Amino acid sequence: MKRPYAYIAGTGHAVPKRIVTNDDIAAMGLETDDQWIIERTGIRQRHIAGPGESVKSLSADAARQAMAKAGVQPGEIDVIILGTATPDRLLPATAVELQSELGCTRASAFDIAAACSGWLYGAIVGESLIHSGTAETVLVIGAEKLSTVVDWTDRNTCILFADGAGATILRRTRGGQKGILSSFMRSDGALAELLWRPGGGAEEPFTAELETQRRQYVRMSGREVFKHAVRAMADATDRALDAAKLTAADVDLLIPHQANIRIIEATAKHAGISMDRVFVNVDRFGNTSAASIPIALNDAIEQGRVKEGMTVLFAAFGAGFTWGSLVVRF
Ligand SMILES: CC(C)(COP(=O)(O)OP(=O)(O)OC[C@H]1O[C@@H](n2cnc3c(N)ncnc32)[C@H](O)[C@@H]1OP(=O)(O)O)[C@@H](O)C(=O)NCCC(=O)NCCS
Repeated sequence: MKRPYAYIAGTGHAVPKRIVTNDDIAAMGLETDDQWIIERTGIRQRHIAGPGESVKSLSADAARQAMAKAGVQPGEIDVIILGTATPDRLLPATAVELQSELGCTRASAFDIAAACSGWLYGAIVGESLIHSGTAETVLVIGAEKLSTVVDWTDRNTCILFADGAGATILRRTRGGQKGILSSFMRSDGALAELLWRPGGGAEEPFTAELETQRRQYVRMSGREVFKHAVRAMADATDRALDAAKLTAADVDLLIPHQANIRIIEATAKHAGISMDRVFVNVDRFGNTSAASIPIALNDAIEQGRVKEGMTVLFAAFGAGFTWGSLVVRF
């Protein structure tokens, strides 16, 4: 059997109730302002989790919507894959707690750590499990609570990152052209220190000293990350289109990782896709890392931007670095 092996049967997304505007961040005493943030990033507001809102709870909300739209019962899910850089706990995987919360009694569950490429990597793994015959139905989620790992005194990073979850159901295709047509994934660990949390893991466990030095928080070399992001996203769009034997003219919609409007515009320009064929919601949600693409997909579907028969190109880039792409026919 040739591709497509798997198609996206349902989507959902959930974000915390609380909206934090750029003015709210400026009011925290950071030297920044609404105009600077909009001009440099395109972000106007983001959702930030409060008490009772966890990676598991947001994921469960998003997953229930996706299952309802796909007409799938919890007992039909074979595998749960959760892309996250901010698991609720380091042990066990948040996906396993989610499996119990959703009542997916037959499912195996695990997390994927690929930062902002987490959902896209997860979708590729899910498709492969379907292709191998291991699974029929896979729940692939990207979910983050980045507000807990950003340094709220660092204006370089805290303006960018946000919380939320996006979920998708992948199912085995039964013939036809609908589904994942091509995929591409790549990593480069030589660049890890450009965007990372240096401490708080097994190599440098939590101590009072580490906390004083704020080494548990995200650190980023913004300008360098920007440069590599543009390059990697360009590579990603080329590779998936080549593999699908398609060109930019065949793409109805590009759904890129929502990190920064300038990175999105550069990606679209490189790919030769005009901005009216690019989905953008970074203005409302900020950078939700692994959740960004599945939130954008569900948002695009709800807005009527993705319809049956359309060809959608996805491109992701994240810490690691990791990057990748998918071409999907809906
Ligand atoms: C972070 C980012 C928005 C900064 O924009 P930039 O145009 O590169 O700005 P620079 O880093 O060159 O900084 C320009 C100036 O603005 C300042 N600045 C940084 N953050 C600021 C903020 N929130 N408000 C106001 N000024 C700020 C800098 O300190 C610098 O001042 P200086 O010239 O006095 O040193 C941009 O680099 C970026 O988006 N990088 C990619 C980040 C990303 O997407 N990460 C996730 C990848 S998945």
